[in-house]
Amino acid sequence: MSSIIDSEKFSLLMTKLQEPANLALLIVSVITFLFILRKSFDSGEGDLDIPEPTHPDSVTFSEYNLSELRDFDGTGPTKLIFIGIKEKVYDVSSKPEFYGPNGAYGVFAGRDATAALAKSDITTEFIPKVEDKPHDLTTLSEKEKETLDGWVSFFDNKYQVVGTLKY
Ligand code: HEM
Repeated sequence: MSSIIDSEKFSLLMTKLQEPANLALLIVSVITFLFILRKSFDSGEGDLDIPEPTHPDSVTFSEYNLSELRDFDGTGPTKLIFIGIKEKVYDVSSKPEFYGPNGAYGVFAGRDATAALAKSDITTEFIPKVEDKPHDLTTLSEKEKETLDGWVSFFDNKYQVVGTLKY
């Protein structure tokens, strides 16, 4: 019974489709469908939108003596700028306007800035040379110790520690 109704419905549909207007509509619909399908394949639409993985620039946490620290004064091929303060080495490369070769605090780049910061001195007077011993921090005044602690907090908050300073 149901198959008779189905075949009647089917032949009615075929008759309707043979009417020119309906046939034209069907053809246009099929062409439009195929066109959209092809465009979607061409544009990669429907692919999962997963970005290519990228690896962040990374610096290995290391120990630096004064000579090794010098390699990071912002003039090397990597343009990295490190500063040693007390026992830590900070990556300040994000601020070349301060610490780059022409920066106001370029004198600290690739150097141990501990004593200079404690004494609020931006000359090279308190910057140890490669062969020097570390500044004896017990000789600092209370005010200088406080100033230095303030800078340590400042650098801890603002910059990444990339290593330790070793004499
Ligand atoms: C007349 C004296 C000074 C003036 C007018 C001055 C001015 C400035 C200014 C405008 C900034 C930038 C602040 C910002 O934009 O974030 C700055 C930052 C700084 N100053 Fe000075 N400064 C003076 C002395 C000193 C001294 C004596 C030292 C240490 C020896 C020093 C060390 C620094 C450091 C380390 C920074 C931080 C840069 C950073 O954000 O990493 N300044 N100063």
